[in-house]
Amino acid sequence: MEEKLYFPKNFLWGGATSCPQIEGSFNKPHKSVFDYWSSIEPEKFFDGVGSDVTSDFYHRYKEDIKLIKSIGLNSFRTSIQWSRLIKNLETGEVDEENVLFYHNVIDEILDNGLIPIINLHHFDLPVELYEKYGGWESRKVVDMFVLFAKKCFELYGDKVKYWTTFNEPIVVVEGQYLYKMHYPCLVDGEKAVQVLYNLNLASAKAIREFRQGGFDKYGSKIGIILNLTPTYPRSDSKEDLEASEIADEFFNKSFLEPDTKGHFSKKFIEFLEKHNVLFKQEKEDNKIFKENIVDFLGINYYFPRRIQAKESVIEDDKFFPDNYFDYYDMPNKRMNPYRGWEIYPNAIYDIAMNIKENYNNIPWYISENGMGVENEARFLDDSGVIQDDYRIEFYEEHLKYLSDAIKDGANCFGFHCWTPIDCWSWCNAYKNRYGYISVDLETQKRTIKKSGYWIKNFIEKQNNN
Ligand code: BG6
Repeated sequence: MEEKLYFPKNFLWGGATSCPQIEGSFNKPHKSVFDYWSSIEPEKFFDGVGSDVTSDFYHRYKEDIKLIKSIGLNSFRTSIQWSRLIKNLETGEVDEENVLFYHNVIDEILDNGLIPIINLHHFDLPVELYEKYGGWESRKVVDMFVLFAKKCFELYGDKVKYWTTFNEPIVVVEGQYLYKMHYPCLVDGEKAVQVLYNLNLASAKAIREFRQGGFDKYGSKIGIILNLTPTYPRSDSKEDLEASEIADEFFNKSFLEPDTKGHFSKKFIEFLEKHNVLFKQEKEDNKIFKENIVDFLGINYYFPRRIQAKESVIEDDKFFPDNYFDYYDMPNKRMNPYRGWEIYPNAIYDIAMNIKENYNNIPWYISENGMGVENEARFLDDSGVIQDDYRIEFYEEHLKYLSDAIKDGANCFGFHCWTPIDCWSWCNAYKNRYGYISVDLETQKRTIKKSGYWIKNFIEKQNNN
């Protein structure tokens, strides 16, 4: 007999994407860092495919939103691009045509009976703000972001009930300042810490703007999306545990603590002080953090982080987080070979219990979870449908752990896949496909995969339970 799963009534069954990954860069007044980077160094992107067309959502949003509805989803996260909405980044003057574009997109989402979740930053800093001010290194850029956020609340506040300030802000720190995954590909631990701080501040200030401006009057809520990659030590040895704690502080708690408790953890501050890289802050900041915690969390989960004590000798005396731990290559772990990520569904339960036990059981939802696979054309059947059984199995396993967590008291209100329709991904471009719906890049034709039919059926079953 099939096992009964537990998902509350009104659970958000949905999917997430981001505008820089689907729209194409048509009609934008500014380039984002990825528009710029893929235009100057296309060879850094899989098959040389940049962000100029992507899945052409800019022209096809009506068809796409209808398709998303047709596979049974009830909610959809996308984002608003700063580099599209704002014409004058200094004054916050908007680009009228693009104001209308986002009105049309949000209206289409609502008209299809879907709940929109709108995110304000998905790795898409306008590149000029890096060239001119050093991007997130600068507090001026923090305030410019708040101006952009305020415009979004003013324009769309009566339509959007769930806002999020950032998607995976730690990935901005990692990508731009540590591991060369995002333009300008710097390696600078000290700057990384300041950027981490400024991103936290930008989120708290945008939340303050939301509340002070009374945008919550529509009953709407504001949160943030974090990739809370759970950290597992290799063993119980003191050294492994310490290394694992440092990685957890740097990559998870550095946002989770200020976002939910209004201050950084004592351990994190001591760690930065010890290595002489404590961020610069201004007097009023602590009050801003304290008064502007999130209403809810979006949690992206793909893979766990396995850590062991540092074995190699650190030769460079400059601060770098990885100087204090090593990654542990656990034998026999299950891998997604295309993306190079471990598959470990149990972690969803662990994340849920961590939030329940240590973060006051704040409301949260899975804002991304999914499996990227290369060359899915090999799984096409005679009727032209991709038989992505691996994806169905992946979701079934993750949902089982989520259901167990809910049964055990997790305050989880939704599950969003990454992503309903195949989309462009940063340097991997269209290498790995994640969608319930495929996109043929030659023709832009969309076709529902086996997993798209499966999720529809799965949701119906849960609703009738
Ligand atoms: C998340 C991001 O980290 O993972 C998405 O929010 C991203 O933007 C997704 O596309 C999947 O990762 P990737 O690198 O395979 O596209």
